[in-house]
Amino acid sequence: MRIDILTVFPEMFQEALSGSIIGKAREKGLIKINVYNIRDFATDKHRMTDDYPFGGGKGMIMKPEPVFAAVEHVLEDAKGKPARVILMTPQGKTLDQDTVRDLAEEEHMIIICGRYEGIDERIRCSLATDEISIGDYVLTGGELPAMVLVDAVTRFVPGVLSEETLISESFTSGLLDYPQYTRPREFRGMAVPDVLVSGDHEKIRLWRRKQSLARTLERRPDLLDMASLSEEDLKLLDEIKKEKFSDLTREDPGNEHD
Ligand code: ADE
Repeated sequence: MRIDILTVFPEMFQEALSGSIIGKAREKGLIKINVYNIRDFATDKHRMTDDYPFGGGKGMIMKPEPVFAAVEHVLEDAKGKPARVILMTPQGKTLDQDTVRDLAEEEHMIIICGRYEGIDERIRCSLATDEISIGDYVLTGGELPAMVLVDAVTRFVPGVLSEETLISESFTSGLLDYPQYTRPREFRGMAVPDVLVSGDHEKIRLWRRKQSLARTLERRPDLLDMASLSEEDLKLLDEIKKEKFSDLTREDPGNEHD
């Protein structure tokens, strides 16, 4: 996969894209990431990338010419092969794991990091193929969102992570993860659940599944509606609900004198 990032702050990407899993994926040639400075494509004397808004108003707007020129340069470099041109903007579709998986199948993504108080509408309507937001909050620019997108997509590029990791993790299985522990077995009075050191693989599997279901029920019940649940899952959920109900009635002070 090839990813080209267009930004006015290329230095922000240096650390983020060279360490850990992304760095290794680049070294192995599984992904190729280029970062371009939009300012290098500005042709006026001061190499301006922003300007005042027509009609008046506060703030500066990202100019169209350097952004169009940067995208055209990248497309030419890719021998005119089509690419997804993604604009990072709080007005875009909120990023989720399905979108990440979909984008990971693309051969080429160009990511435009919006800046300033806005971007010229012509970038949005005639250059971008997708507009993506990473959540309902506004950041100072699209650079951090672009890093989030690249990180999430890289994990799905074949060869970057093991199949096993991808299948077992949250959102891929449709449920939240079960709790994990490592040594020491007891830490500040908090012990690892006995079942995990029992050596009984079937018991461990069931315990983990039940924990996943319980966590999802408590924190993200919406995910349960979409998950494909087995007969065993439904039985475990029944148990969880009954246990919760009996906990509640035990805690109810009104029952103390019954
Ligand atoms: N630019 C500023 N805020 C953003 C957000 N939440 N998502 C994507 N791009 C942005």
